Amino acid sequence: MIITCPYCKKKYNIDEKKIPAEAKGVKCKACGNRFPLKFDQDPAAQPEAIIEEAKSPSPDVKKVGTRKIAVSLSKGGVGKTTTAVNLAVGLAMVGKKVLLIDTDTQGQASYMLGAESQGGLTELVTNELGADEAIVEPRERLSLLSGGKSLAGLKRLISRKDFGGELTIKEALAPLESRFDYMIFDSSPGWDVLTVNVLFCANEILVPVSLEVMTLQGLTEFLKNISAIRKHREGLDIKYVLPTFFDKRVKKSFTILKKLEDLYGQNVCAPISNNVRVSEAPAYGKTIYEFAPGSPGAKGYRDLVRKVADDDSLFR
Ligand SMILES: Nc1ncnc2c1ncn2[C@@H]1O[C@H](COP(=O)(O)OP(=O)(O)OP(=O)(O)O)[C@@H](O)[C@H]1O
Ligand SMILES: [Mg+2]
Repeated sequence: MIITCPYCKKKYNIDEKKIPAEAKGVKCKACGNRFPLKFDQDPAAQPEAIIEEAKSPSPDVKKVGTRKIAVSLSKGGVGKTTTAVNLAVGLAMVGKKVLLIDTDTQGQASYMLGAESQGGLTELVTNELGADEAIVEPRERLSLLSGGKSLAGLKRLISRKDFGGELTIKEALAPLESRFDYMIFDSSPGWDVLTVNVLFCANEILVPVSLEVMTLQGLTEFLKNISAIRKHREGLDIKYVLPTFFDKRVKKSFTILKKLEDLYGQNVCAPISNNVRVSEAPAYGKTIYEFAPGSPGAKGYRDLVRKVADDDSLFR
């Protein structure tokens, strides 16, 4: 009998007798997506009719294209990792297939998700591990390529390349693209070869800007660097400016927010509150939705997820 992958439409000729009775789903060898199988009892049924479409995520990953969002700003402690993790998890919760890629030697993304892995981005790039071993799935529909100390070695490897070093991560991730609706990159503070690699791979940038400290200067510096990259990356866009650490009791919060709105208008998202629950959640390996679903932090990130997912239509 013939079964067809609902994602990439690859057809497989399968001997029905060899499928174990308890098998509920299969994994497509071509695109790596999993999909459920339902066998029709009627022998006259057409082979394609026995495939039950996966309910979520959307089977249109290829058609729509994978959105690749870099969460980045050279300044430290502005909420990059918190945002990358909660955005990735939130998108997975609304049915998207998401790959979160941690490009920071601090390796905080795994910690925040309570995830353990035997490798991650470094091992994928160096081919020490295949994609299925390097990637872990800490939540339903959420895959993670973890970062951490091993990235120091990857940085050296990239720096030693005579040419094309800036495309190292993009090339390593290219075969995985068709599996995901989104790739979300967490970046390290500062500016190094991995930041450049992320910006050569991503096509949208989300910049978290803390309303607590004067990050506007850091943002200006960052934008200068981005415009240098944009010469080589047409279409690379600062798509979202996300005000973080918003505190309505503090005047400075409003002053900086107003400045951001004057400068970046429509690109400015609703601010994320300075919320102690957000800072407590990582110690439990939980996201804000799991740790304190009713908190202002959870609400803020849910709004962000909705805004980002609503923009999917722009990519069709
Ligand atoms: N909205 C928030 N309210 C309260 N605390 C927060 C909020 N967002 C992040 N934090 C806390 O602030 C600290 C810095 O956040 P985070 O690690 O996400 O920043 P970062 O930009 O990734 O930092 P780095 O540049 O070091 O990678 C963390 O302890 C985090 O739990
Ligand atoms: Mg971080």
